Amino acid sequence: MTGGADGLRGVVAAETVLSDVDGAAGRLIIRGFTLDELAGRTSFEQACHLLLEGMLGGLPDEGGLCARLGAARVQAFAEVAALDAELRGRPPLEAVRALMARLPDGDDLEVALRLLASPAVFTPAVIRAAKGLAPIAPDPGIGHAADMLRMLKGSEPAPAEATALDAYLVTIIDHGLNASTFAARVAASTLAGLTSAALAGISALKGPLHGGAPGPVIDMLDGIGAPENATAWLEAALDRGDRLMGFGHGVYKVRDPRADALKRAVQSLAQASPELPGRLKLAEAVEAAALDILRRRKPDRPLNTNVEFYTAVLLEALGFPHEAFTCVFASGRIAGWIAHAREQVLSGRLIRPSSHYVGPVPREAA
Ligand code: ACO
Repeated sequence: MTGGADGLRGVVAAETVLSDVDGAAGRLIIRGFTLDELAGRTSFEQACHLLLEGMLGGLPDEGGLCARLGAARVQAFAEVAALDAELRGRPPLEAVRALMARLPDGDDLEVALRLLASPAVFTPAVIRAAKGLAPIAPDPGIGHAADMLRMLKGSEPAPAEATALDAYLVTIIDHGLNASTFAARVAASTLAGLTSAALAGISALKGPLHGGAPGPVIDMLDGIGAPENATAWLEAALDRGDRLMGFGHGVYKVRDPRADALKRAVQSLAQASPELPGRLKLAEAVEAAALDILRRRKPDRPLNTNVEFYTAVLLEALGFPHEAFTCVFASGRIAGWIAHAREQVLSGRLIRPSSHYVGPVPREAA
């Protein structure tokens, strides 16, 4: 068995202490903690500390990491000046990636912190630039999630909003050997450096089969418009051969535990929002209809709600435009890419699998 024809499903390509995805039980463990123990209870900085401990020389304690990450946001902000008219016209993920590519490469703490800070700084700047608004400089003295929202909107967010973004960033911080993390580990294994590894990661994240799905989830909710339209709309989409965005997963055969963590975050946020309860009601109706239809149409395939479905509802409620959702995903997952890249480098192994040649044979060998 080459594994290649099946997209390497089930092939173990790395040993890791960072996270474990149990697709049959629907359980995610991040460095010894279940997702439920972390999401909504820890800040992004605390979760970063958990992932990076032992991976980087000189890593400060949790309090020190908050201060250093704040300072790194200020350093990363210097690159925003490079956001020219050409980059402003590109899709947000391409603009964020281009700014990240300006950061120096290397393997030390300084490089790691600036990278860790960078998508959270670049994403609000890119969103604002597309609207003709000037970027807002970071405030190194507040939490990472709160500062990301402040750089987006220009004023400090309500505590519930910062808590919701923290819950999101922690929920998606790491997830086994997903496509972007694998790409980051492959680049890191060549000793290319952390920036190169993160650029490999963000490029793999871009596609709709991985991190690019939540934008289309919003298109789906907008297209459906009201709960009573859900079934007819979804049936028509499947009749056209479309996939329902936010459903199905390469590893989870049951419900993705991150969907529940994010739904809880949306429910908390909805308590203080006039519009969100209605949007949540629509999302719940669409989810129920989609699960019912998928079960009926694909009885042999366990297709359940994945992380992207409630990601879309949450990030929309926080004020991020849907075309930039994948950039917010990268703002959390960057911690996983850095931790995995360091773990790969520390293992000392170059990733170099084999391929199975199925092309034409030279005439002399036939
Ligand atoms: N809607 C309708 N049908 C689906 C869906 C879906 N969302 N997902 C899978 N299927 C069907 C496929 O059409 C296929 O059917 P067939 O065998 O009759 O041809 C079957 O289920 C298996 O599809 P695969 O692509 O082989 O399944 P895989 O497990 O590799 O797919 C994936 C996982 C890519 C996430 C898929 O479920 C999908 O495209 N989902 C929609 C996009 C999405 O939500 N992406 C975000 C994923 S989460 C993340 O990466 C962060």
